[in-house]
Amino acid sequence: MNQQPVILCVDDEAHNLSLLEALLVPRGYKTLLANDGKSALIMLRSEQVDLVLLDVMMPGMDGFEVCRRIKADRATCHIPVLFITSLDDSAVEIRGLDLGAADYLVKPFVPAVLQARVQTHLALKAHRDRMEELAEERAKQLVHADRLSTLGTLAAGIAHEINTPLFYIICFAQVLLSDIQKLTSQMTSTETSEATLRDAWQLFIEKDADVPVKIAEGANRIRVIMESMRKFSCQGQVGKAPVSLDDCIENALTLCHNELKYHVTVHKEVAADLEPVMANGQQMEQVFVNLFKNAADAMDKKKKGTLTITLCRENDFIRCTVEDNGPGIHPQQLDMIWEPFFSTKDAETGTGLGLSVSRGIIKDHQGRIWAENREQGEGARFVVELPVKNNQQNDFVE
Ligand SMILES: Nc1ncnc2c1ncn2[C@@H]1O[C@H](COP(=O)(O)OP(=O)(O)OP(=O)(O)O)[C@@H](O)[C@H]1O
Ligand SMILES: [Mg+2]
Repeated sequence: MNQQPVILCVDDEAHNLSLLEALLVPRGYKTLLANDGKSALIMLRSEQVDLVLLDVMMPGMDGFEVCRRIKADRATCHIPVLFITSLDDSAVEIRGLDLGAADYLVKPFVPAVLQARVQTHLALKAHRDRMEELAEERAKQLVHADRLSTLGTLAAGIAHEINTPLFYIICFAQVLLSDIQKLTSQMTSTETSEATLRDAWQLFIEKDADVPVKIAEGANRIRVIMESMRKFSCQGQVGKAPVSLDDCIENALTLCHNELKYHVTVHKEVAADLEPVMANGQQMEQVFVNLFKNAADAMDKKKKGTLTITLCRENDFIRCTVEDNGPGIHPQQLDMIWEPFFSTKDAETGTGLGLSVSRGIIKDHQGRIWAENREQGEGARFVVELPVKNNQQNDFVE
């Protein structure tokens, strides 16, 4: 809400507008005056308005239509509308309230009553705005909490993933070092003939030529893992930008590699020429990590699991399907799994935040996410759809 509340007064009679101005300005409110519905709607688009005082009977667009349009627009629907009219008819009053008006005053009104109603509705709006801010703040905290807890459960696996290439790097470096030492001592020895030295060089080149390549490969694998982890855990990725969902899936698979590699085969099919989507890449990765980790948890560690990921265009959406061949979801729990803190896992494995946070993220991207069981009890299928044309900038800041 503005520091100085802004009240838009809409009336086709100039003296009514002057009266409202005379009653409101001394009370510390800023007034905007419109003498017809059209100009009121134009002002609402360019100004930050906290309350609308609206006449019903106006030439051209009447107050009901103005109210209907205010309430139909996402940008203005939260602004309280108070009808002020000379029509003292309960059917008219009911129609106004049905359209979403907050209150109704009949002309001639008592100035103190108008001022009291304005004050009440502004206070209610300020309270509602604060509640919304708090809810948004809590939602951001939950998203971050889920990311940290997911990272916590993946940490041991990620450390293991780094250890393996690190072990190779150390071994190959030792081999190289010892071979270089042998060669150097042969080169510095006066007893080594030229032919022996040539053979030693030949052997060194044949044996060790690809050692630096292997070291570079190992270091590169570590770099990829570290980069995925950094991107996933860092605070502060703000807003949306064009992102490739395939890249997000790859990063998520890197983070979940250790959870999947022993008992799950991953199949990924990506349609050609998929456009990027306007999204927060870090949050998209978070959704995919949640889905892949859930699938890995669901599939029996003793049997061979299959995780199938498909990415394709479906009308105006990019659709990602994640299928596993685990036990599927109990039909009675298909709705419950989206509730915060619902989990069938023990406290160490699951917080029950993953899917509720994922749904919040996808909703924030004007997308859809749902779960279903695959045919003949073959496992679970999660579907994520994101609009291709979503140019709305996000003010989601972490
Ligand atoms: N692929 C799946 N197959 C079967 N059940 C699933 C699958 N994915 C999720 N579920 C069910 O949904 C529940 C909620 O999942 P959610 O990701 O929200 O929480 P969690 O995995 O239990 O904990 P965490 O917060 O660590 O992710 C899971 O406990 C599980 O019962
Ligand atoms: Mg989970």
